[in-house]
Amino acid sequence: MSKPLSFSAFVMNTASHIIHGLWRDENGHQKNFNDVELWVSLAKKLDEGGFDAIFFADVIGLYGDHRGGWEYHVKTGLQIPSNDPMVLMSALAVNTKYLGLAFTAAPLQEHPFNFARRVSTLDHISKGRIAWNIVTSYSANAFRNFGYDGLVPHDERYRWADEYVDVLYKLWEGSWDDGALLQDVKSGIHADPAKVHKINHIGERYKVEGPHLVSPSPQRTPVLFQAGASSTGREFAARNAEAVFIVAPDPENARQLINEIQRLAKQNGRDENDILVFQGLSFVIGETEEEARRKEAELDQKIDLDMMIAHMAGGMGIDLGNISLDTPLKHIETEGVRSTYEWLKQSTPGRTPTVRDLAKLRTRSSRIVGTPETIADQLEIWREAGIDGVNMINAVIPGSYEEFIDLVMPVLRRRGLAREGHSEPSTFRKKLFGSDLLNERHPVAKYRGAFAAKSTTQ
Ligand SMILES: Cc1cc2nc3c(=O)[nH]c(=O)nc-3n(C[C@H](O)[C@H](O)[C@H](O)COP(=O)(O)O)c2cc1C
Repeated sequence: MSKPLSFSAFVMNTASHIIHGLWRDENGHQKNFNDVELWVSLAKKLDEGGFDAIFFADVIGLYGDHRGGWEYHVKTGLQIPSNDPMVLMSALAVNTKYLGLAFTAAPLQEHPFNFARRVSTLDHISKGRIAWNIVTSYSANAFRNFGYDGLVPHDERYRWADEYVDVLYKLWEGSWDDGALLQDVKSGIHADPAKVHKINHIGERYKVEGPHLVSPSPQRTPVLFQAGASSTGREFAARNAEAVFIVAPDPENARQLINEIQRLAKQNGRDENDILVFQGLSFVIGETEEEARRKEAELDQKIDLDMMIAHMAGGMGIDLGNISLDTPLKHIETEGVRSTYEWLKQSTPGRTPTVRDLAKLRTRSSRIVGTPETIADQLEIWREAGIDGVNMINAVIPGSYEEFIDLVMPVLRRRGLAREGHSEPSTFRKKLFGSDLLNERHPVAKYRGAFAAKSTTQ
């Protein structure tokens, strides 16, 4: 029998994340994003409602200009203001029991030594439920915020990420041996120095001596997500990711992408089951098909297409603000998000996509509309295409998730598409893969015990 799907809530610590315009909706509470209670109560609902994770997107700068500037972003709330999701993780960790807690961060934003320490601390706080979505950042403004003149070129950003994760793996997996922390009250030995090691990393961008300041957390390395889908992005995922987040326009395209991810995983000495695939999907739920279609029409009325364009085109670093919705988009060369254009082409087979298609890419092509039963039928097709989980995009918080939990989850459980509630609390990795630590096929494994031969005086 096929495995049940995993369910994750795809959110962002800001007023308007993906389905833009809905922060103004009377049923939406996301404009209260500064209030930690919004997130704590959502996380508790997801925890109790059988979701496996909450997944926070994040950006560390503005999207590219819209109509020649960035005033638009501030005026409409296009992911500004936004708060740091990593800080929020602590609050969610102590208020939930089972939920995986995934946040997004880019190598650009923090030195790996400090990042490793903060992640390990969160993994302790959450008892092993932390996941990190590794992104390379596509915002020129973000790079200028951190002292660069503009975007570091696309493939160079992934090379940077390669070294960044290498430093982290050394700290998380190689610096402290198992059993190093003794806390032996009788002898007065707190930790065994023979089992704690400096890593002495010297690379192109970083020099890190170590040792890691945090003793091993339940998962050591957090569960690693990745979302880039260009060829360089996929290669990076094949080497490092345990879960890939995709937004394929339909199950057939997802199947092809999953085959490719699995092929690349094997090429990199990993197993095809070492990388799970989460598809981004949103749902419009009705008691009847007619009701669902009516709700969809109402939703479409509320979506701000101009903001959708500012987001999608801004992520690619192009300004389509002054261009009519029917303008064809034949070819886009970008140093920003390349996968967007690929998915745009796939979602418009047999014709040239237009600006309007781009505006609707994230709302229409990844949307399932129907009754709980027909939604389950569709999810069955996605599962057959090979996805392992769904990263659920919301229209409103918390309403979209409440509706899904109340109306759809029971049907999914009955049909074996969702797990029957939680068993014991465990690490997030154990829930996904059955073990607390990364397996021997992952590049982290080479650092286990690798620094042991060197003495503490080095
Ligand atoms: C579905 C999806 C979600 C993403 N979420 C984020 C995000 O929250 N923050 C971010 O900085 N980048 C995000 N990205 C960008 C990627 O991680 C990556 O840096 C970018 O897509 C450029 O790489 P690519 O050309 O390989 O896709 C996302 C990309 C995709 C496809």
